[in-house]
Amino acid sequence: MDKREETQHSNLQEIEKEILIEIEEIKSLDLLERLTTKYLGRKGILTTFLRNIPKLPVEDRPSAGKNANLLKVKLEGLFSQLRAQLESVAENNNDFIDVTLPGRVAIRGTLHPVTRISREITAIFSRIGFEIAEGPEVETDYYNFEALNIPKYHPARDMQDTFYVSENIVLRTHTSPTQPRVMEKVKPPVRIIAPGKVYRCDSDVTHTPMFHQVEGLMVDSDVSFGDLKGTLSTFIHQLFDEDISLRFRPSFFPFTEPSAEVDIECVMCRGKGCRVCSGTGWLEVLGSGMVHPAVFENVGYDTKKYTGFAFGMGVERLAMLKYGIDDLRKFFENDMRFLRQF
Ligand code: FA5
Ligand code: MG
Repeated sequence: MDKREETQHSNLQEIEKEILIEIEEIKSLDLLERLTTKYLGRKGILTTFLRNIPKLPVEDRPSAGKNANLLKVKLEGLFSQLRAQLESVAENNNDFIDVTLPGRVAIRGTLHPVTRISREITAIFSRIGFEIAEGPEVETDYYNFEALNIPKYHPARDMQDTFYVSENIVLRTHTSPTQPRVMEKVKPPVRIIAPGKVYRCDSDVTHTPMFHQVEGLMVDSDVSFGDLKGTLSTFIHQLFDEDISLRFRPSFFPFTEPSAEVDIECVMCRGKGCRVCSGTGWLEVLGSGMVHPAVFENVGYDTKKYTGFAFGMGVERLAMLKYGIDDLRKFFENDMRFLRQF
């Protein structure tokens, strides 16, 4: 190294030394910006040094250029590292709240269509004097079947595909076990509805393995089938329009005699026949009938004194018809696009 080269070199070394001292003092992004400008800006110290290289003697230029560029790269690295550090400190500094930022809009939930329709159903029955009762979802074989006049090995057990927990415990297949549970506790007159979840091994467009039912029971000294028909017609016409057609179709349940199922005109096709109503134009929404004397005997009610009616409706079926939904399984997929519509 000759004399001139040495001066060049020490000049660069001095610059570097100075920078390393100054950088220690940098505690804010602002100051860092100033330091960057001081050395690397358009008129910065290192920039000026680089610009002046052509003025150096020819033989000095290569090493001066090389060293200056090395220093530049080193500085850029140091500055960007420091910038990242200072930025993350600024971000984590929670003391600072920018009150001018627009607020975040909270996403508001809506009631699930099944919840909505359940509430409507209970509201209608409350207005005509029914009280609300409840029963367990994990039920004994006795209340789910035996007390309802469905003995073991009776073919009627095949009407509902049961999930068994153990030999004598089931997931209730309907809300009907609330009937004997309530009647064991209270004397007539009885006027209750019992909403809740029920379970069956079933799945297609109008069946899901878990669904909701609302049970109804009225017992008094002279309750007739006319009362049953009047109550259910009033209910359906309040839930839907006055002009919706419904029909009572003779049916069979071991715990009612006589029994009837109620169908509503399919709102999807207005009775013409479609996939939802299996081409019939009607959709079954509930089962009903006059309480069977055997059920009264099981709970100790005097069958000579009392008569009663009962019904059990499918909540999802009613929701399907009310909101025009063509596949019952959509209620349980929790697709936000579907749920937001309600
Ligand atoms: C019963 O469950 C009887 N307990 C109803 C009853 C109560 C009759 C009191 C007499 C006296 P059924 O199995 O038909 O009956 O079901 C009643 C309603 O539940 C049906 O009309 C239908 O609307 C609905 N339902 C039945 N299975 C399903 C399912 N897998 N998914 C959705 N809804 C269903
Ligand atoms: Mg049925």
